[in-house]
Amino acid sequence: MVDFNKRAFCHFTLKDILSIISSVAIPIALAIYTAIGSQQQKQQAEKKQQFDFEQSKDLRQQTLYDEFLNNIYKLDKDGYLNDSKNPWAFANAYYRAAHRQWDTIRKGDIIQFLKEEQLIGRNNCSNGCRTTELDDIIRLNELNFDKVHLASETGVLNKLNLQCVSFDQVSMSNAEFSSVSLNGVSFDGGRLNNAKFDSSSLLCASFNGVNLSGADFGNSDLTGAHFSNSDLSGAKLTEEQIKQASFHNVTMPNGKKSKTASSTTTKKRIAQTTTIMKTKMSTTSSSISTTKTITTSSSSTSTSTSIPSSSTTSSTTSSTSTSTTSKTTTTSPTTAATAQLSLSGVQLNLDPLSLSSGWSLCYNGTYADSLVSTVVATVLAACNKNKLLLGCRPVANTKLSVAAMGNRADVLYDCGSTSTCTHVANGVGWYFSSSYSWGFVYGSGTVKRNTCDQATGDDAYRLCWHTSDVGGYRCGSTLCSTDSTWAKVIYHAN
Ligand SMILES: *[C@@H]1O[C@H](CO)[C@@H](O)[C@H](O)[C@H]1NC(C)=O
Ligand SMILES: *[C@@H]1O[C@H](CO)[C@@H](O)[C@H](O)[C@H]1NC(C)=O
Ligand SMILES: *[C@@H]1O[C@H](CO)[C@@H](O)[C@H](O)[C@H]1NC(C)=O
Ligand SMILES: *[C@@H]1O[C@H](CO)[C@@H](O)[C@H](O)[C@H]1NC(C)=O
Ligand SMILES: *[C@@H]1O[C@H](CO)[C@@H](O)[C@H](O)[C@H]1NC(C)=O
Repeated sequence: MVDFNKRAFCHFTLKDILSIISSVAIPIALAIYTAIGSQQQKQQAEKKQQFDFEQSKDLRQQTLYDEFLNNIYKLDKDGYLNDSKNPWAFANAYYRAAHRQWDTIRKGDIIQFLKEEQLIGRNNCSNGCRTTELDDIIRLNELNFDKVHLASETGVLNKLNLQCVSFDQVSMSNAEFSSVSLNGVSFDGGRLNNAKFDSSSLLCASFNGVNLSGADFGNSDLTGAHFSNSDLSGAKLTEEQIKQASFHNVTMPNGKKSKTASSTTTKKRIAQTTTIMKTKMSTTSSSISTTKTITTSSSSTSTSTSIPSSSTTSSTTSSTSTSTTSKTTTTSPTTAATAQLSLSGVQLNLDPLSLSSGWSLCYNGTYADSLVSTVVATVLAACNKNKLLLGCRPVANTKLSVAAMGNRADVLYDCGSTSTCTHVANGVGWYFSSSYSWGFVYGSGTVKRNTCDQATGDDAYRLCWHTSDVGGYRCGSTLCSTDSTWAKVIYHAN
């Protein structure tokens, strides 16, 4: 038998080797074990440190937030937020100081708080467009809201209400709006590149001078929204949205200017691309001018007439106009437009001050004021010049929400009580009756007079006044029958 203990292996017996191995291995194992342990401890310490840091950051944000709410509460209690305290310097100082330190989550939360407390967006925009003219108590202008995420907690069920808020000159690059009601909101002079609007409503929203490059309007409603002097290059807008909104001097998503796009894609935008020609109301010298010719896309026959004007001011005006007969049999053939009409088509947001000096206000009433035939007679006696402009607006506004001008005979084209009758002239479909209804629709658009125009489509471009009994009916998409907060106005010029 072989004696294992005696078996030599480089002068060591197996027993020796085993005892050597175990005497070395245990400390090594211990060393490895402690090394792993201290590494884990270190990691845990770092994690804890990070956690503490996050906690303290969060705590600080919360403290700032709570302090702000306390400050606003005190200001409100002491009457510093009353209308008489305009311009609300303390409130704005607190807000702006805190805003600069908040993270985007708190910035978003505060916007909601400010709206709920009626410190921003105080105007009534429940029907889309702004109907009052109240200043925001807290001003958001020139602040940074990049990457802010505003969303309704219940999604499409209840849209987050940010109606009528003024985000003028605000930076909101990469911001996200999910299921937010932004009706009547103004983003003028702001930055919204790569912003996303998802399931939101932007009725009557104003985008003047806004960088919207790469913005995504998703499936949002843009009815009556107005884009001007803005960059929409690379933005995502559907054909339907382009039809809903109006564009003026805008770089469209395809990189082209809105002017060229308007004539080919939608008829609506023709209204936005008008050229203001200064009408010279010279009484002595005679002038020659040519009006722009307006053609409607749905014309089936087309006649062209050229007639000299017979204006009272001995000036000779030669003009050409292409008139159209639309497919509906009830639509009358158009007569030629005469004198210089500086604006063709239905205008949105028209500032009456931009009209040439020849124009003056001849009728000013509210939608609560009745326009029955006897009143119409008085109104027409006061508005006795060759050209008439009908418009409407919230009483408190200066700009006309919807307006259109035309030659007297066109504006007063008697449609009697025919439901679908319009008379197309100067890019506007006119109808009148001194005992039914009076108004207009976009170009060759169809109407449903019952008694006032109840048709839909291009709603923002419709105006209708009852001449049968009650005061009024609609100003664009706003139905404001007998509403004294809405004004109807007529301007006239020779
Ligand atoms: C302003 O606020 C104070 C304090 O709440 C209140 O007593 C006062 O009636 C308010 N004034 C107006 C004009 O609202
Ligand atoms: C806002 O205006 C609409 C229509 O003009 C009206 O029905 C509504 O009562 C107004 N709301 C407020 C809060 O004034
Ligand atoms: C809009 O913003 C984008 C991205 O910041 C920029 O490349 C582009 O030049 C801006 N457009 C205008 C008109 O300033
Ligand atoms: C058109 O918009 C651009 C900005 O996009 C602006 O710089 C320019 O002045 C505008 N042109 C007119 C005629 O308003
Ligand atoms: C319209 O009439 C009202 C009441 O007569 C008057 O206060 C208001 O100034 C008028 N508006 C204009 C633009 O003339």
